[in-house]
Formats: sequence, structure tokens, C-alpha cells
Amino acid sequence: MIVTVAGFKGGVGKTTTAVHLACFFAGLDGKTLLVDGDPNRSSMGWAERGNLPFAVCDFAASVKASRAADHIVVDTEAHPDNETLETLADGCDLLILPTTADALGLEALLNTTEALKRLSAYSVLLTKVDSRKMATAEQARVMLESQDIPVFDQVIRQLTAYEKAALAGVPVQGSGDRMASIAWKEYRAVGEEVLKYDQGV
Ligand SMILES: Nc1ncnc2c1ncn2[C@@H]1O[C@H](COP(=O)(O)OP(=O)(O)OP(=O)(O)O)[C@@H](O)[C@H]1O
Ligand SMILES: [Mg+2]
Repeated sequence: MIVTVAGFKGGVGKTTTAVHLACFFAGLDGKTLLVDGDPNRSSMGWAERGNLPFAVCDFAASVKASRAADHIVVDTEAHPDNETLETLADGCDLLILPTTADALGLEALLNTTEALKRLSAYSVLLTKVDSRKMATAEQARVMLESQDIPVFDQVIRQLTAYEKAALAGVPVQGSGDRMASIAWKEYRAVGEEVLKYDQGV
């Protein structure tokens, strides 16, 4: 399966999502490859700082590397134009659009509703949700779904564990944070939803 992570805003958790979905796939049968399509090389940096349980390469190396991969996750840079977004969606099985649940994040998404309607397969992932403001995330979900925008059931909470993991160059379950296993459970649940999507459930 090829999953691409993209988004209209910077810093919404695209790289964090790409790394942890790749981690989820790495726990299944077959080989997993994370392709870093961001010139800032954030995923590459994550891997270089520590150790990730799957291969990471940049776009230039991805054509050859993908030959041996069963599961491919692509991390991309922020602010794609509508045409790029369509090309990204056409080039994968599922396009994941992480967004924060605040007004600015949602506005960036809703501004592109027309472009989203042209996409083949995509779903929005609410990320960096403040645990004290879960109601805001649910409100955001209702609003997006009322516009026929698909949203993952699972939301990703704002947890320090993710920041620690990025700094140490490891997946969140190896971050040593007290919330590490809870954090990992969230992305695992997203991974399960992605698989269901692939099976057309
Ligand atoms: N769920 C989360 N909880 C807390 N911090 C998070 C979470 N997700 C991401 N972060 C932190 O937010 C920052 C941005 O995350 P990330 O790099 O994944 O976003 P991005 O969308 O890929 O950014 P860019 O647009 O720069 O590529 C990082 O410091 C990361 O550790
Ligand atoms: Mg990034």
C-alpha cells in the first residue's frame, strides 16, 4: 500500500504521522519504506538522529528503493498547490491530511474543499489535539463531515512524547515518556483504519 501524508499548513504533524504510520506498517509482514519528499529532510533527520525500524530515503533514491518495498509511506512538504495535491493523491492509495482542530488549521483545509472533492482517496487526521479540548476536535469533525470531508475516527493528542521521540530519532514507543504507550496506541489505531480503508471496509 502507498500512503502519502500532505497538508496545507506547516507544523501540523505530517512528519510525525508519516514516521508512525511507517512504524505501524513495519510491524506487518513485508518491507516498509518511508520516502522523505520534503526538501527540509525532516524524516531523514529523524532517522539519522537515532534509529527507526524501517528504511528512509529521499525522493531521488525512492524509485529504486520502492522496488523492494511492500508498504510505502511518503512524507511531503507543506503548502502544496491544488494541482500538486491532485498529483499526490493520484500517486498513492490513500492521501492523509493531518490538521490541527483550531480555526486556522481548519480554515486552511476548508479553503480547498473544491480541490479536495476532486481527490481520489483521502482522509483528514485531527492532530495535536489538546486533551482538555477533545470537544473542539469533535466539533471540527462534525463540521468537516458536514462538508463530506472524510475524517479518521482516531484523533492524535498533543503529547510531549512525540516531541521527545523526534528529538531522540526513535518512534514514540521508544521515547521513554510516561505517555509513550498511549501515544503509540493512537497511531496504531490510525494504522488499523488505513488498513480497513485498503480492504474497502
Ligand atoms: N501529537 C503531537 N503532540 C505534540 N507535539 C507534536 C505532535 N505532532 C507533532 N508534534 C511536534 O510538532 C512539531 C511539528 O511536527 P511535524 O514536524 O510532524 O509537523 P510537519 O507538518 O511535518 O511540519 P513541516 O510542515 O515543517 O514539515 C514538531 O516539533 C513535533 O515534535
Ligand atoms: Mg514535515
